[in-house]
Amino acid sequence: MLLNQYLEALLEDLRRSAEGNRMSRLTLKSESIEIDPDRAVAIGIIVNELVMNAVKYAYPDGAGPIHVVLNSQGDDLELSISDDGVGLAVKADPRSTGMGQRIVSAMANKLEASVERDPNHTGTRVILRFSAVSKPLAKVPVNAAK
Ligand SMILES: Nc1ncnc2c1ncn2[C@@H]1O[C@H](COP(=O)(O)OP(=O)(O)OP(=O)(O)O)[C@@H](O)[C@H]1O
Ligand SMILES: [Mg+2]
Repeated sequence: MLLNQYLEALLEDLRRSAEGNRMSRLTLKSESIEIDPDRAVAIGIIVNELVMNAVKYAYPDGAGPIHVVLNSQGDDLELSISDDGVGLAVKADPRSTGMGQRIVSAMANKLEASVERDPNHTGTRVILRFSAVSKPLAKVPVNAAK
């Protein structure tokens, strides 16, 4: 399936469900990328969590830009979710359940993705790097059963 189409539909649902204009400046930049549906779902969950974080925390006084960018180089994908807000606080918000972070880690694990923060970005920018294709299972030698 086409990952960019799936993410565009997901962001459109988020925009539609948002109160007021909180997600009016939510954008997606992506070329056309073909991906397995189960990987697309994991990516969608990550995007949903990180966009919701930006909505909840980045702009305490209202709203601002939130960008989802997907770049590919062959089978290597780089996904970033960024805002120009207050930046990640040292102490988690008391409203935090910690579930978001765990869900992101679990989905990143599934994708065998690296997750890092861009230290040079004003606001919050999380970058995930992973392969568009899942690693094939190790081949069992044909004579293993003999
Ligand atoms: N884009 C952001 N800008 C500023 N602070 C952020 C941002 N994203 C996360 N945070 C901070 O990091 C904390 C942890 O985020 P996390 O997603 O784990 O929890 P949560 O969003 O508060 O709760 P949950 O995801 O379980 O609903 C948040 O409480 C918040 O303080
Ligand atoms: Mg969260």
